[in-house]
Amino acid sequence: MKYFPIDKQLYIQNRKNFMAEMKPKSLAVFNSNDIYPISADSTMPFQQHRDILYLSGVDQEESILVLFPDAVDEKHREVLFLRETNEHIAIWEGEKLTKERAFEVSGIKSVYWLSDFDKIFFELMTQAETIYFNTNEHYRQSVETETREDRFIKSTKQQFPAHTYAKSNPILQRLRSVKDQIEIDVLQTACDITEKGFRRVLGFIKPGVWEYEIEAEYMHEFLRNRSDGFAYTPIIASGNNANVLHYIQNNQKCQDGDLILMDVGASYANYSSDMTRTVPVNGRFTDRQRSVYDAVQRVKDEATKLLVPGAFWKEYHVEVGKLMTSELLGLGLIDKADVQNEDPDWPAYKKYFMHGTSHHMGLDTHDYGILWEPIKAGMVFTVEPGIYIPEEGFGIRIEDDVVVRENGEPFNLMRNIPIEAGEIEDLMNS
Ligand code: GLY
Ligand code: MN
Ligand code: MN
Repeated sequence: MKYFPIDKQLYIQNRKNFMAEMKPKSLAVFNSNDIYPISADSTMPFQQHRDILYLSGVDQEESILVLFPDAVDEKHREVLFLRETNEHIAIWEGEKLTKERAFEVSGIKSVYWLSDFDKIFFELMTQAETIYFNTNEHYRQSVETETREDRFIKSTKQQFPAHTYAKSNPILQRLRSVKDQIEIDVLQTACDITEKGFRRVLGFIKPGVWEYEIEAEYMHEFLRNRSDGFAYTPIIASGNNANVLHYIQNNQKCQDGDLILMDVGASYANYSSDMTRTVPVNGRFTDRQRSVYDAVQRVKDEATKLLVPGAFWKEYHVEVGKLMTSELLGLGLIDKADVQNEDPDWPAYKKYFMHGTSHHMGLDTHDYGILWEPIKAGMVFTVEPGIYIPEEGFGIRIEDDVVVRENGEPFNLMRNIPIEAGEIEDLMNS
């Protein structure tokens, strides 16, 4: 791992919180992700499943975590199963977790090799009445492959058809959406690395550079700061490419007079950051670009203030829609008649701002959170309004990541990343 170790108290507390929500005589199982094949013997780089990571800190393939608060033998209340490591594996693949190291990372004392799993799991299941399966109920999920977790669920249901099944996911959605201070510190590190990348490209962008060269500058800065790389596929979109919301080709030359929208975030210790900045390729906004930019920034600033404990995500979006409507009227992009005649399901402002304003952010870029429950202190959200005007050849989005706080004043994890149009111009011309 490139990242510094994370305090294992986080994982000890996370397991405690999860187990407090479990029914009597129940156990819960969490599997690592598979290493996904490409072809021949090529594989994708390993990405740990965020749930086992959240509960154990174990960032390694073929690992299984079992939580069983009512286990007869106290040592089986928290159990880890790991792929056995030995000298041969150490020579070919490098360091893997030993049992001692797994304890240091996770705080779990009972660590077995995977070869012991079937026997111990059978014994634990004879003491349990309910098993919690870890299905994926994220509101944006769309998974076609069969995961390691899916295979485990299938085989366990076959082997233990008389048990009751329960769902881990709602518990994890609630727990993971509210961040511990240790997590907020890690998210801050991810955002600080993103800041370094942004400052680097401000000195690099000029007419004639290619979008992929800018992508490379970010990657360079991220890796040299112990980032795992991009938290998601970056969008480096100059000119009208910014109006393709999921533009990821990043293969065009930046033209004088165009803006460039960059939706880029560093991942650190598997935590995301999610930033968008839009800057002028030649270092100066035109008056029109600047008017639209300032309008987007006003919406962002006002929207951020609405992220307070007790607010609801859906109503928040309705309020942001009103802010955006007023700015679009001011910019002459829509008129009063458009607003009076608007379809309530697709208000007039959606013509220029057609995506959501905020999502939970954390171990996943689009993180867990139950959207119909009230917003709580400790939740981390993006705030990312945009105005997209294909007929004028540019699109502007700005995006910061903020922590909701008890005192009602959100804390901006990206407060140090330049955002004012004037400051960006000064930095690009210094
Ligand atoms: N970068 C993904 C998003 O902004 O949601
Ligand atoms: Mn983004
Ligand atoms: Mn985002």
